[in-house]
Amino acid sequence: MQERANDTATGGPEDTPPNDAGQAGNDDHGHADGNQAGWPEIAPVDYWEDRYSGSGPVWSGRVNRVLADIAGALPPGRALDLGCGEGGDVIWLAQHGWTATGLDISPTAIARAAEAAREAGIPGNRAQFLATDLSEPGGLGDYDLVTASFLHSPVGLPRTEILRRAAGHVAPGGHLLVTSHAAAPPWASALHEKEHRFPTPREEAEALALDEREWQVLVCEVRQRLATGPDGEPATLSDGVVLARRYPDATRGDA
Ligand SMILES: C[S@@+](CC[C@H](N)C(=O)[O-])C[C@H]1O[C@@H](n2cnc3c(N)ncnc32)[C@H](O)[C@@H]1O
Repeated sequence: MQERANDTATGGPEDTPPNDAGQAGNDDHGHADGNQAGWPEIAPVDYWEDRYSGSGPVWSGRVNRVLADIAGALPPGRALDLGCGEGGDVIWLAQHGWTATGLDISPTAIARAAEAAREAGIPGNRAQFLATDLSEPGGLGDYDLVTASFLHSPVGLPRTEILRRAAGHVAPGGHLLVTSHAAAPPWASALHEKEHRFPTPREEAEALALDEREWQVLVCEVRQRLATGPDGEPATLSDGVVLARRYPDATRGDA
């Protein structure tokens, strides 16, 4: 995820510190889908509003490395970012020719993202942000790229259901990109590492259950990138990357 100094997590651009997943009680990796009993009894919107309630940004504002590498090689079109946070990926997409929409459950994150886009001089018709609970089905339209960078949460998040539904909003010839934490950061506590199991990219791809008559999985791998830890130490972080392309002649739900 887009990280900022002095935070403690796992995602993020190669030159920035992590921001959350390493801290006990502050873990965005989340639980496996269906493990509702293990989720804290707090409404997801309240949890995330609390996370974004501080005076400063939670993330760095910079694009996630995987998104930049992959989307940078695609022809620009319409993009949808699931769990966009403070908008770093959407802003990058808009700056690189895409018309991008970011969705996030936190109205505060969405307001920050919109403000960051304004400050970056991006016209409102190139980058839009909507406060939306992705666990509730809604009319999303069709997109040439649907991306989810670190759509993880320590509170209720039916992630697989959301990602499967999102795949249905990829236009024929378009792409679905899912970037996730593939391992705990080096600074994570031993307990955290022991308690959390990170799905492999193959497991992530299998969970999407994409119809192979309709989809081609182009990338399914762990990518490593450099980061800086909370105490300034250099670190290598592992991201799970799944990129699938919907065949241009695919018809929705029945190839
Ligand atoms: C770990 S952050 C990643 C943010 C951003 N994609 C990035 O890479 O920095 C996960 C994001 O998912 C959002 N989120 C969690 N549950 C959600 C839901 N049900 N619907 C929409 N967004 C959700 C959170 O508010 C948070 O911004």
